[in-house]
Amino acid sequence: MKGIILAGGAGSRLYPLTLVASKQLQPVYDKPMVYYPLTVLLASNIREICLISTPHDLPRFRQLLGDGSAWGVSIEYREQANPEGIAQAFLIAESFIAGERVALILGDNIFSGGDAFPRAVAEFHGGATVFAYHVHDPQRYGVVEFDAAGRAISLEEKPAQPKSNYAVPGVYLYDEHVVARTRALRPSARGELEITDLNKTYLAVGQLQVIRLSRGFAWLDAGTSTSLHEASSYVQTIEKRQGVKIGCPEEAALRRGFLQLPAFDALVAKMPNCEYRDYLLSVAAEIRRVGLEQA
Ligand code: DAU
Repeated sequence: MKGIILAGGAGSRLYPLTLVASKQLQPVYDKPMVYYPLTVLLASNIREICLISTPHDLPRFRQLLGDGSAWGVSIEYREQANPEGIAQAFLIAESFIAGERVALILGDNIFSGGDAFPRAVAEFHGGATVFAYHVHDPQRYGVVEFDAAGRAISLEEKPAQPKSNYAVPGVYLYDEHVVARTRALRPSARGELEITDLNKTYLAVGQLQVIRLSRGFAWLDAGTSTSLHEASSYVQTIEKRQGVKIGCPEEAALRRGFLQLPAFDALVAKMPNCEYRDYLLSVAAEIRRVGLEQA
């Protein structure tokens, strides 16, 4: 499966932070926001990646992530001239997708805990898979309703009267028909190709799988100054307590076998003396001591 990171948009709710650097380049505690969704893809065994952003911001992403070879993956870039909807990503990235299955992750969604995504990617066998997460303010999101048997029966984008508390986070898996299905969509009242409309087309033909994320799982928003600060605090708290990092692509690449230890060592050796480097050194030392399975 291939992976797309959608990292465009104006980031206007973070003004003036976003005057010179886009939202997904802002720090979430100790690393740029885009590291988190990138790490979700790598940890899910996805190593062919396309990042979509604005013509203005793309050069910065290229500068930050390069072609991915440092991490044993490939990263391509595509421009979204105007924010005309999340689903537009599939039309923009059509040549990258090249008729294969694809995961889409939003560049401002931060996740922590569990192995729901790697498992869903490994077990994906067609149609579309989305996730459901219990929130207290579902009206801000795509909302999924379940019947008594736990089957998804409706999807609505930002409903005024939500039919459940289950929001759909910004990670989606699709089969090879996603481009054709997107092409058949019409823009919504706000002029966007809606991801919820795309998912509804799969639901309508009984091909939408909805996986509920457990309570122990964290899904954080980072789109406003307050939520950005809260996300940073959350990451700091977990990292300090556990001594493990969230959203560390080098580590994910090493654990997935995209990078072998010598290449990992060489990558770390190029980093300046800093806490991030110290962490990566400790990861390599632990793997050498007890092996990849136990570390
Ligand atoms: O975060 C999950 C939610 O994301 C879902 O529950 C909703 O169903 C989905 O519509 C979306 O809602 P948002 O209100 O968060 O969408 P927003 O327009 O803020 O876009 C989310 C991110 O995607 C944002 O960081 C900017 C980026 N984006 C968005 C659009 C519409 C683009 O890069 N290009 C776009 O055209």
